[in-house]
Amino acid sequence: MSFQNLKEKIIIIDFGSQVTKLIARRIRDLGVFSEILTINDLYKIKDYNGIKGIILSGGPSTVTKKRYPSIPKEIFLKKIPILGICYGLQLIAKLFGGSIKSLKKKREFGRAFIFKKNQSLLIKNFFNIKNQSVWMSHQDAVIKLPKGFKTIASTKDSRFTIIENTQSKIYGMQFHPEVTHTVNGKEIFRNFLFSICKIKKKWHVISEKSRLINEIKKNVKNNKVICALSGGVDSSVVALLINKAIRKKLICIMVDTGLMRKNEFKYSYNIFKKKYKLNVRLINASKIYFKKLKNIHDPEKKRKIIGNLFIKIFEKESKRFKGIKYLAQGTLYPDVIESRSATGSQSSKIKSHHNVGGLPKKMNLKLIEPLKEFFKDEVRILGKSLGLIDSIRNKHPFPGPGLAIRIIGQITPQKIKILQEADHIYINELIKHKLYHKIWQAYAALLPMKTVGVMGDSRTYEYTCLLRAVVSEDGMTADYFNFPKDFLDKISNKIVNGVPGINRVVYDITSKPPSTIELE
Ligand code: XMP
Repeated sequence: MSFQNLKEKIIIIDFGSQVTKLIARRIRDLGVFSEILTINDLYKIKDYNGIKGIILSGGPSTVTKKRYPSIPKEIFLKKIPILGICYGLQLIAKLFGGSIKSLKKKREFGRAFIFKKNQSLLIKNFFNIKNQSVWMSHQDAVIKLPKGFKTIASTKDSRFTIIENTQSKIYGMQFHPEVTHTVNGKEIFRNFLFSICKIKKKWHVISEKSRLINEIKKNVKNNKVICALSGGVDSSVVALLINKAIRKKLICIMVDTGLMRKNEFKYSYNIFKKKYKLNVRLINASKIYFKKLKNIHDPEKKRKIIGNLFIKIFEKESKRFKGIKYLAQGTLYPDVIESRSATGSQSSKIKSHHNVGGLPKKMNLKLIEPLKEFFKDEVRILGKSLGLIDSIRNKHPFPGPGLAIRIIGQITPQKIKILQEADHIYINELIKHKLYHKIWQAYAALLPMKTVGVMGDSRTYEYTCLLRAVVSEDGMTADYFNFPKDFLDKISNKIVNGVPGINRVVYDITSKPPSTIELE
């Protein structure tokens, strides 16, 4: 399945920046389809019809070395507008004869103030605030402008912050308009798309729904499809989409590992069975999970055990059904981008255990991944148009290994029970106080230490519960959520009073980086 036959799009050449994905999101948010390509993909394009603009992303490479990632020069002859961002700008400057130098003393990381030098189509409505600031992340800088280019804006430390060559429709900027820290960054994309590339606003995720359903029908025909349903938003949308396309031929398997949130699995099972009338089988595997996880402390070992066991159980269950040809998975676009390197090699692997990598080969199944070109928030929109209930559609992300990586150290059924209760209280209070949807991900964790407390006249010696809540765009970076003190007081009180086994509650006030979202 692919958007290859879409009439008009913007392509983004990925040079390996951590934030390339955000470029695609900003463009899609503006109603234009965009696709991220590696340099190798670019060499394979035969027909440039429909490509209305090209964006060159940032990346860790430097054009000051002898060898550096580049693009075929013929691209510049096609008269397709090009926008270079960070490394993209430096590459353009290099290819057109400018000079780039590593400036250790004038590097810019984080916020920088930018000053307009000349007018340009690219900056309409961008400088409409005082002290316009942008987000920088570079050490190399253009120190001599190539012939034919003009300076549009500068910062104190970098003269050529925005440059353009209007005749060739080539633009470049040293900062990252795609990150939210660049004020008005969206205006840059709006101007590039509609004033420079002259592409039309035509794309919306909902208009893709019927195409996706038709493609599933066409590819799957009369064959059976099996799907691992976790009750998270991705697998739920996949199941509803496939069910719409092929009805009775979809078999969903829910493996209850016992490591999920309180009541959550049964609740989702009932919804899928009764409300959506899916052909779904619930497997209670908690006993075997606890057995295999006994005495295991290392988080990576836990992940491996959980993932491998999942594959085993899923494979065994699927043998009950004859004639299955396809395995459906909720792989998302960021998984696809992350699983290939910027130069096109398939080096890194998708980490989530629900993208059960070994299964299709082992079971001789073909994969269908209808969401592999969508971002999470687009999947949520798709879910809404498929009638997916809000409590599933807007659920916070939940890791495949579940509560096992939120109990530091050894897992026991007793610890799971304690954590489920604390987490249940926390999440319910977030919902009650209308905070849940303001937060990207929130959870309770159980720390591996017991501390002394006093309750009534007796001393207690119980676990510490850690609460985490972060705001984020895609989980790559995150800031801790700033709760009102009253809420923290209330939640600490409720958990300590309501959950035997916990006598202390702490709130994690670190962001990512330097921390991560999960504790293990
Ligand atoms: P970290 O802890 O790396 O988490 O900042 C980023 C996002 O990834 C999720 N996460 C996982 N998801 N299997 C998953 O399916 C895993 O092993 C795993 N580890 C982390 C985490 O919940 C957050 O949304």
